Amino acid sequence: MSSTRYIVLSASLRDGSRSRVLAHGAVERLKAAGAEVELIDLVDNPLPLCDGGACYGDPRAVEIKKRLEGAHGYLLATPIYNFDINAALKNLIELSGRDVWTDKVVGFLCAAGGHSSYMSVSTIAADLMLDFRTFILPRFVYATVEDFDEQTLASDTIEERLDGICSELVRVTEALKGD
Ligand SMILES: Cc1cc2nc3c(=O)[nH]c(=O)nc-3n(C[C@H](O)[C@H](O)[C@H](O)COP(=O)(O)O)c2cc1C
Repeated sequence: MSSTRYIVLSASLRDGSRSRVLAHGAVERLKAAGAEVELIDLVDNPLPLCDGGACYGDPRAVEIKKRLEGAHGYLLATPIYNFDINAALKNLIELSGRDVWTDKVVGFLCAAGGHSSYMSVSTIAADLMLDFRTFILPRFVYATVEDFDEQTLASDTIEERLDGICSELVRVTEALKGD
């Protein structure tokens, strides 16, 4: 039986990112639950822009794809930009493609400015599902500026939602892995 591996990916490129706080909170919870988890922060892993050709041979793209391929379940922490995930995360998905995302379990941790972009991850969730047959967790974390005190999470509701998505990630990933 191979061990189940998880990746929490932080996609914000901003100093003081709130989605990064969510990503760290998820890593802590998964570790506390005894899961094997790796944090990948795109700030520490600059990537080429996807051009649909030469980018796939770029060592930075090859390396991150290899790291991503080794996991079974993922939490993608993303800023909400223009009612969508940020371009850095979209670019990573374009660079990594079906070898990484097919039959994997993915959940989202979102940081947004306000409440009205709540449905923003619907597009990428459907894209992953229909393009790669990714299993999307039917719950996500959506935090706004009001849920943070500077760099600290200051919302019991978001803490609870982090608890919920982490346990759901493990439950669904283990069930689908089935070994
Ligand atoms: C280019 C840009 C577009 C944004 N678009 C939205 C948006 O559509 N909806 C929203 O609620 N917040 C929007 N925001 C606010 C960010 O989601 C918010 O600042 C969030 O905390 C960013 O994530 P981060 O803190 O992890 O970097 C936008 C911010 C930027 C810079």
